[in-house]
Amino acid sequence: MLTLRGVGVTYGDRWVLRGLDLTLPPGERAAVLGPSGCGKTTLLRVAAGLLTPREGRADRSCRKLAYAFQEPRLVPWLSLEENLLLVLGETTTPAPVRDLAERFGLTPLLKQRARTLSGGQRQRAGLVRALSVRPDLLLLDEPFASLDRPTRDRLLKETADRIHREGTALLLVTHDPTEARTLAERILELPDLAAPASDLS
Ligand SMILES: Nc1ncnc2c1ncn2[C@@H]1O[C@H](COP(=O)(O)OP(=O)(O)OP(=O)(O)O)[C@@H](O)[C@H]1O
Ligand SMILES: [Mg+2]
Repeated sequence: MLTLRGVGVTYGDRWVLRGLDLTLPPGERAAVLGPSGCGKTTLLRVAAGLLTPREGRADRSCRKLAYAFQEPRLVPWLSLEENLLLVLGETTTPAPVRDLAERFGLTPLLKQRARTLSGGQRQRAGLVRALSVRPDLLLLDEPFASLDRPTRDRLLKETADRIHREGTALLLVTHDPTEARTLAERILELPDLAAPASDLS
C-alpha cells in the first residue's frame, strides 16, 4: 500500500528526515509520534507524493488516497457542503456523506462559507472530507489537535470505528499518544534530528 525506503529530506542544508523506512500493508494502521518540528508533516507530504525526498523513495499502490492536512485547506469562499462535493465529484451530497457530517456535528454548518468556520469546525470538515471519499489509504496529520477533549474523544472513537470497519490503511502523525493508541496498531517514534545530541560521555 505504502513503502518508504531510506527516505531523507533536507530544507536548505538541514536534514529533517534521514534513512527512514516504513512499510504499510493494506488495511494496516500505523502512527508516527514525535515532538513539534521533528518532521511529521514532511513525512506525510513525502508519503502523499507532494514532496520528492532528497534520498530514498516513496512507493504507493493504493486505489484512492485521502489526506487530512494539518491546516484543513478548505476553499474559503465555498460553503462547507460545496467543499465536500468538490472532492466527491457529485452535485448533491450522498446519504452516507450526510450521515458522516451528522456524526461529526457538521450538519448545521453545511451551508456556511468555509471562511466563517472556527478552527475546530474546519478541522472536523477536513477529516470528514478525507473520510467521505472512502480511501484505501488515509493520511492524517494531527487530526484532532484543535478540538476540546470530549469532542476529541467522541470523534476519535467514531473515526477508529469507521476505518476499522472499512479496512482503511492509515498513516497518522501526531504528538498525542492517546490518538496514536486509539487509531493505530503500530506506533513508531520519529527522532528529532535538530535536537542536540545527547551527551554520551
Ligand atoms: N518548506 C520548508 N522550508 C524550510 N523549512 C521547513 C519547511 N517545512 C518545514 N520546515 C522545517 O522542517 C522541520 C519539520 O517541519 P514539519 O512541518 O515536518 O514538522 P512537524 O513535526 O509536522 O511539526 P508540528 O508538530 O509543529 O506540526 C521544522 O523545523 C520546520 O521549521
Ligand atoms: Mg506538522
